[in-house]
Amino acid sequence: MNQGTHWVGYIDWDLRNFHGYATPTGSTYNAYLLEDEQPTLIDTVKNLGADAMIREIRRVMDPARIRYIVSNHTEMDHSGAIDEVLALAPKAEVICSPKGEEGLKRHFKKNWRFRVVADGEEIKIGRRTLKFVHMPMVHWPDSMATYCMEDKTLFSNDAFGQHMATHERYADEVGPDRVMHEAAKYYANIVLPYGAQVQRVLAALKGVALELICPSHGLMWRREEDIRAILSAYSDWSAYKTEPRALIVYDTMWKSTRQLAEGLYKALGSAGINVKIVNLQLTGRSEIMADVLLSRFLFVGSSILNNRMLPTVAGFMTYLAGLKPKSRWGATFGSYGWSRIGFQGLETLLNDSGVETLTAPRYIQYIPEAEDLDSWSEWVAAVQRKF
Ligand code: FEO
Repeated sequence: MNQGTHWVGYIDWDLRNFHGYATPTGSTYNAYLLEDEQPTLIDTVKNLGADAMIREIRRVMDPARIRYIVSNHTEMDHSGAIDEVLALAPKAEVICSPKGEEGLKRHFKKNWRFRVVADGEEIKIGRRTLKFVHMPMVHWPDSMATYCMEDKTLFSNDAFGQHMATHERYADEVGPDRVMHEAAKYYANIVLPYGAQVQRVLAALKGVALELICPSHGLMWRREEDIRAILSAYSDWSAYKTEPRALIVYDTMWKSTRQLAEGLYKALGSAGINVKIVNLQLTGRSEIMADVLLSRFLFVGSSILNNRMLPTVAGFMTYLAGLKPKSRWGATFGSYGWSRIGFQGLETLLNDSGVETLTAPRYIQYIPEAEDLDSWSEWVAAVQRKF
């Protein structure tokens, strides 16, 4: 890191679920301390990591010296230890956006000393100048980033982050492939609905010198090629660019829907189409979203249980509808016993998610016949027309 900039965050090795997002290796809450004439703490950590963060701060300085606490984002994984820091740094002001002030007051009911900053406002903290870039809905209304002009460092809060716990602090120490996969998964599960807002942030960063990106989760990006790669990925993802690949997501009761899924998989694969098949009984929705992010085609299959789609499918589709992937085509399929009415809910959720209908749905009563498993030519042709 630049001289006088210190990571003082908390590595949460035990975290396995971040409001519905599975985090099998944990995550980190990154906070950064800038040593300067007016020592400045950028973000804090989830409350359970407050003591660990304060220990990290004490390695650098007495917390009483802290003059500013920048709260880039109200969500409690970043603001949860502000009170603990203020108890040790009573002179500190909390810097935040106007929506940040509203949110922090609603969350913490405390009369902290706020310094509300406008978009583009600068504050001199000594050698350094901090510039505040509002980024509403990336991913809350209050969100902002802090740019240190002299160090060419962007403290980007949730943007460009990853939910992964590691001993290492930089993306290049872990390996760009793994970190980029986690960054894609993070984008797909958290940032995906806000493509237009991300594009506005990227436009604001155009031409800004960046030598280090410090997100509030996961690893920092310091190599020129890694910074270029993550900015380029965000540009593609926020433009809803996809690859010509298909994703089949299903659950099954007595293996009829599974047979249909496998028949579709075989037909697409035989036509040379890149296709992946995922059983919801075995794979979690947050992992599946990383594939949704890249896939142009999404096919969802369910059996019918008590006139409804299966609960696993309903959970996934509700999650998907909230994340609103655009520029994708899809269709539904499945097996039923005596009534097809339960498929209406599946079709509605696919429609609500923003996935456009590629072709008519396909529903088979009870057990598929051999010809049902081989007759996917219309679906394959519909996919090929969208290449
Ligand atoms: Fe990492 Fe939106 O909090």
